[in-house]
Amino acid sequence: MRRLLERAANRVRSGNAVTASTHLCYAWAMTSAMRVRGLVKKFGSLVAVDGVDLDVEERELFGLLGPNGAGKTSLFRVITAVSPATAGKAWVAGKDVAEEPRAVKSIIGVVPQQDNLDPDLTVVQNLVTFARYFDIPKRTAMTRVEELLSLVQLQEKRNEQVDRLSGGMRRRLLIARALVNQPKVLVLDEPTVGLDPQAKHLVWQKLRSLKDLGVTQLLCTQNMDEAERLCDRIAIMHQGKIIAQDTPARLIAAYGGKRIVEARPRQDDRDWLVETLRRQGLEFQEVEDTFYIFQTDGEVLDQRLVASLDRFAHHVPTLEDVFLRLTGRSLGE
Ligand SMILES: Nc1ncnc2c1ncn2[C@@H]1O[C@H](COP(=O)(O)OP(=O)(O)OP(=O)(O)O)[C@@H](O)[C@H]1O
Ligand SMILES: [Mg+2]
Repeated sequence: MRRLLERAANRVRSGNAVTASTHLCYAWAMTSAMRVRGLVKKFGSLVAVDGVDLDVEERELFGLLGPNGAGKTSLFRVITAVSPATAGKAWVAGKDVAEEPRAVKSIIGVVPQQDNLDPDLTVVQNLVTFARYFDIPKRTAMTRVEELLSLVQLQEKRNEQVDRLSGGMRRRLLIARALVNQPKVLVLDEPTVGLDPQAKHLVWQKLRSLKDLGVTQLLCTQNMDEAERLCDRIAIMHQGKIIAQDTPARLIAAYGGKRIVEARPRQDDRDWLVETLRRQGLEFQEVEDTFYIFQTDGEVLDQRLVASLDRFAHHVPTLEDVFLRLTGRSLGE
């Protein structure tokens, strides 16, 4: 690290600023848990990830939100050394993902969006087989597997073949598997989808305790409650780009405004409502039959307008409103 900084300083002294900044970038990469620069991922002509820069600090629990198809999983797959970037770079704990994929895989735990458990093996066999990839001694592996089974409450299913588990149990097993190598960095792609409330709270509690233990986490979720409860910072991804990032509270303050008005016009009044809101200079998003109107106290809507509505309500802004305003989509859409 020091050598890299010295090398960068020498480059600056010798006037080679471009190379200097490259060396500084490498030096910085070693201080953050995850660093992404100018990352592009293309599938043919489709640009799934479009020039993403991202920094996740050590011990941070960082959330990634975005509508379906925003490019979140494509980004995750590059960061976890599963799929190569088309352009740009990513580092995990200072290691270049493209140059040291094995090293990256050994320190990272991954809960993929798509279940890739071995359906022919039992619960225990899935975990033990995975431990072998990391050369974990058998005895240590067995102790760890027992702890993980108890953590995700799958002890009773230990000898069950995976294709006989329920969807929620399989997700819990995926989470246990991601922890087999005691990763320094955990990447979770929608880990609680399909879990019942009790199992969801169990996972949330575990993610919080891993944070306390110093594990850095990158969490992709469509669950606002999850994002607000767990994440130190959040990035919102849309059409391959990060369009906003900050703490949940600051995102809400910046994009939620004071109040959100929910207005559902009668069918014949829709065009008139759009025209009225535009005339009043109010920002809004239309989702199905409901208008979400931002940065208003409610009083600014005139009485005639309110009287014309089928439904009128207002609420204190949430992360979901921020998401809606920035992407024009409601979550889970
Ligand atoms: N292997 C692939 N081949 C071709 N196109 C792909 C591939 N994987 C993803 N895409 C496309 O890239 C875009 C981004 O997909 P991605 O899975 O990264 O989105 P996402 O944000 O994870 O969405 P979701 O919330 O639905 O999981 C989509 O248009 C998708 O169709
Ligand atoms: Mg995805």
